[in-house]
Amino acid sequence: MDKIKLAILSSHRGSNAIALIKASLDRNYPAEVSLVVSDNSNAPVLKKARNLGIKAIFLDPGPKKTFMTPEVEANWTKILKEHRIDYILLAGFMRVIKKTLLDAFTGRIINIHPSLLPSFKGLNAQRQAWEYGVQYTGATVHFVDSSLDSGPIILQGIVEVRPNDTPETLTERILETEHRIYPQAVKLLAEKRITIQGRRVIIRKEAND
Ligand code: GRF
Repeated sequence: MDKIKLAILSSHRGSNAIALIKASLDRNYPAEVSLVVSDNSNAPVLKKARNLGIKAIFLDPGPKKTFMTPEVEANWTKILKEHRIDYILLAGFMRVIKKTLLDAFTGRIINIHPSLLPSFKGLNAQRQAWEYGVQYTGATVHFVDSSLDSGPIILQGIVEVRPNDTPETLTERILETEHRIYPQAVKLLAEKRITIQGRRVIIRKEAND
């Protein structure tokens, strides 16, 4: 089986990165994590990934706080291409992806967001949902496009908000759902079971040979 190659971009803790790496260590999983990249040299995810035998590197994110300049994105692209990466998975990556990287990996950058999109985009989505008073929230795996948390949706997982929840307990349960649906979504991509029609993602039942 030819496995597709993944790069995970993560800025801090990396629990989703680790869930993806662990899933990919199963020899029947159709994708492998070739590289973990952080824009933060102190990110715990770097050490955690290395402990699981995965190459993990810090790449300089340049002078901007919330995004990377075209020059920086061009350098990241070069390194990702050198590793023959098929899909880029954002997992707690705290920067907006801009045109240079998006154009180099069209339709091949995926993100996970801790709400049922399109509700509660942006930061602190779990707290936003809790404060709004929704009874159900969850997590969304989606393609990345040029707008914030807005690309076609691949998978969603629902989490019930309990009366005694705090934003913290809710965040914990959403995270468990994230760890379940992100590897599932990547498996669907690797098995080429996904097509995009407009905004809608169609998932075929059986893998393509
Ligand atoms: C997750 O909640 C993810 O959905 C959001 O940032 C958080 C990252 O957590 N984009 P981790 O670094 O994967 O533990």
